[in-house]
Amino acid sequence: MADNHAVVFLMGTAGSSQWREPIKAACAAEGISVFDPIVPQWDEAASRREAEALQRAQVVLMAITNETASVGALAESGWVALSALRRHQALGLYIDPSYAEQAEPAGSPQTDAPRADKRATDTLESASRRARQLVIQHAARLAEQFPELNIYIAKDLADLQAWTIQMAKKRLPGTVRQVEQPQQAALAAYTARHQAPPLCVAYAPGRVNLIGEHTDYNDGFVLPAAIDKAIYVAANLRDDDLIVLHSLDFESEVTFPLARLHDDSLPAWTRYIRGAIALCGTLALLNGQNPNRLRGMNFTIAGNVPLGAGFSSSAAIEVAMFEALSALLGVPLTQTQKALLGQQVEHHFIGIRSGIMDQLIAAIGKLDHAFLIDCRSLEATPVPLPKGVTLVTLDTGVRRELVSSEYGLRREQCEQAARIMGVPSLRDATPELFAAKRAEMPEVIARRAQHVLEENARTLAAAEALQQGDLDKLGALLNASHASLSQLYQVSIPELDLMAALAQQQSGVYGARMMGGGFGGAVIALVADEAVSQTIEAVSAAYTAQSGRVCTPYTAKAGAGSGVMYLGGVG
Ligand code: GLA
Repeated sequence: MADNHAVVFLMGTAGSSQWREPIKAACAAEGISVFDPIVPQWDEAASRREAEALQRAQVVLMAITNETASVGALAESGWVALSALRRHQALGLYIDPSYAEQAEPAGSPQTDAPRADKRATDTLESASRRARQLVIQHAARLAEQFPELNIYIAKDLADLQAWTIQMAKKRLPGTVRQVEQPQQAALAAYTARHQAPPLCVAYAPGRVNLIGEHTDYNDGFVLPAAIDKAIYVAANLRDDDLIVLHSLDFESEVTFPLARLHDDSLPAWTRYIRGAIALCGTLALLNGQNPNRLRGMNFTIAGNVPLGAGFSSSAAIEVAMFEALSALLGVPLTQTQKALLGQQVEHHFIGIRSGIMDQLIAAIGKLDHAFLIDCRSLEATPVPLPKGVTLVTLDTGVRRELVSSEYGLRREQCEQAARIMGVPSLRDATPELFAAKRAEMPEVIARRAQHVLEENARTLAAAEALQQGDLDKLGALLNASHASLSQLYQVSIPELDLMAALAQQQSGVYGARMMGGGFGGAVIALVADEAVSQTIEAVSAAYTAQSGRVCTPYTAKAGAGSGVMYLGGVG
């Protein structure tokens, strides 16, 4: 789920700096992160950091004051701010009223210029003044015309500051805690809040992935397993049109009418729930039913899937929601359909074009089994996990900050490689075709394609090794996968490389690699049962000594997929 970095982004216009400092101080006092792109040295890295922070930010601020250097600079950053604005973001704008009165400050101080020059200067100044007035009129019109963009025009800088704090707090995920015994907790909290038990408790698990990383959105192969940690949703219908959401993990309750399903000013965590309900409305429409017949619903949510650590808590909440909605609304859905709908929520409401792996394994997982999934046909073959070996995950403690922008970029690079090879997706490229076309590809594109092609082959080989109980071979494939993700696909970070290397060095460890999208999260290691505690101890100690961070281990048990328990509350 969402991380809470760079919540506020300060739009930079050359020359305007005074207004930034008080806002930065006020945010710091509230524990709200701020990204200020104005740096002494502007280079490619700074520009990339800026673009990524702008994508991640939830609140974007821009102030136009007398310091604002020129109408040109203003137009440019204003354009950047508006064109980059996403549905989950809010833009706070302040325009100093005296701004329009001022002449263009730089480059026109020719006091004793000849008359002709003076006339030209006057003309420029009056054009500039008119342009400034237009900026002010336009800003007001924009805010009015595009209410869905959530633009706020502040009265003064103090107002901008107050609005920023209020907006950022609303959008911060808040303190996240992991609820112990989440199933009982969701049930008890629901019953206490609504004075009656829910109709059902739906659930969907998190997942680990043995191998097959960044292959799913290339129509390739993956080998994940559902785990014994899940998100639980206690739910029932209401007689009115209100959606009453209560998250024990975020310690937050939000109530809104069905008409506000698309209102992104509601807290970020509600997007998963709103997205699922909105898609159910569309589904009803496609089934020839009246989507306006959607009724109000209560949902109380609690889980113990670690958030942001690469166990795919987002897919778990998405799939759990479709379990709950299917039960409440009487819409029959297959497990594959629940997974596909969950993926649509991720694409259209969260803004990440993820593959199908996480949602599908959350829906179909099986005790003590991994699944070899063909992400093109969605055919899933259960593969029993051998006895005597444990899947251990080692969380680096680094949260996945860059994941959405870098993920989208990798996906585009893969699509570009497929286009160059003239195939619908990288799944269709043979090693021979790749070798023949490699020289036509920019080096970075070739590296991405090489990873995907080889990772698909490794995944098929791994499923075979698993079936044959050849753990040495499986381990070697895991190690090769890590090297490829780090060097060719470039989605690792130093902490993941360190953790994988430390795990690989332990006797009793068959193999280890980073797991999931990358840029943070956990490493997965295949460890002989008798070496588990010793491995965890040795790796944790060395990791802390070398990185200064804490390693959180978890011994994963492959568990069942999503489902629903009916409790008989009145629907
Ligand atoms: C994330 C996505 C998955 C998959 C992995 C990388 O977990 O949600 O669809 O692409 O990254 O393998």
